[in-house]
Amino acid sequence: MAPIIRAERLELYYGTHPALRGITMDLPANQITALIGPSGCGKSTFLRTLDRMNDLVPTVSIRGRVLYRGEDIYAPGRDVTALRKQIGMVFQKANPFPMSIYDNVAYGPRTHGIRDRGRLDAIVEESLRGAAIWDEVRDRLKKSALGLSGGQQQRLCIARALAVEPDVLLMDEATSALDPISAARIEELILELKQRYTIIMVTHNLQQAARVSDRTAFFLLGEVIEYGPTGQLFSMPRDKRTEEYITGRFG
Ligand SMILES: Nc1ncnc2c1ncn2[C@@H]1O[C@H](COP(=O)(O)OP(=O)(O)OP(=O)(O)O)[C@@H](O)[C@H]1O
Ligand SMILES: [Mg+2]
Repeated sequence: MAPIIRAERLELYYGTHPALRGITMDLPANQITALIGPSGCGKSTFLRTLDRMNDLVPTVSIRGRVLYRGEDIYAPGRDVTALRKQIGMVFQKANPFPMSIYDNVAYGPRTHGIRDRGRLDAIVEESLRGAAIWDEVRDRLKKSALGLSGGQQQRLCIARALAVEPDVLLMDEATSALDPISAARIEELILELKQRYTIIMVTHNLQQAARVSDRTAFFLLGEVIEYGPTGQLFSMPRDKRTEEYITGRFG
């Protein structure tokens, strides 16, 4: 199966500090890939290179390539807004905009020029259903998103990401700020979303990686030490450092 995203010899420096040291990795479509590893090893940096969020950091320099559906996303003239429509991001801390639930979800589609009320209504409903929060908010769509619980806010942010019909969802510790019940809901949701999206998720929760992901990559000091089917990586790691990490001996 052709990968939907491929990183090739990807290097990233913050000033002179190497945060990614030559990463080559194929990410398959309609699979959940988990990125694990100790703090500061480059997981978030890698995730952000996939939708060019690091471009916003002035000291960053990047070498190598990231191919999305075979095309280099760093090629000159590449439309970054269009890229971010195809590759959506959900962050650790839910970050709803200070506006109504409806407007949060309609924000992206409106940015992309959709004005028709009926069409927006349909997108908002479908996205909220997709993020498993419709039943909880259908009667309060005009109320502020800031009045939702943390777990609801995170599902709203997932709905907001889905509203622009992305292809890939990047999730950076999307459940780590939530109580166990909300986190479990989002985990279930991630498994449902896999039917339609490619998901790449950073998690510190190794049980979570083992439960939901198809493939896991172990990062250490800006390198991918081991990458393979999740069951195999957790039960029979090939590298000693992976084994030490997953058995809790460091990190
Ligand atoms: N904006 C930045 N400017 C300078 N250095 C940065 C910046 N962001 C990250 N770094 C550095 O790059 C390295 C990788 O950081 P990154 O955030 O990717 O790690 P991480 O694996 O996501 O860690 P954590 O698990 O703690 O979130 C670290 O040494 C970090 O200090
Ligand atoms: Mg991080």
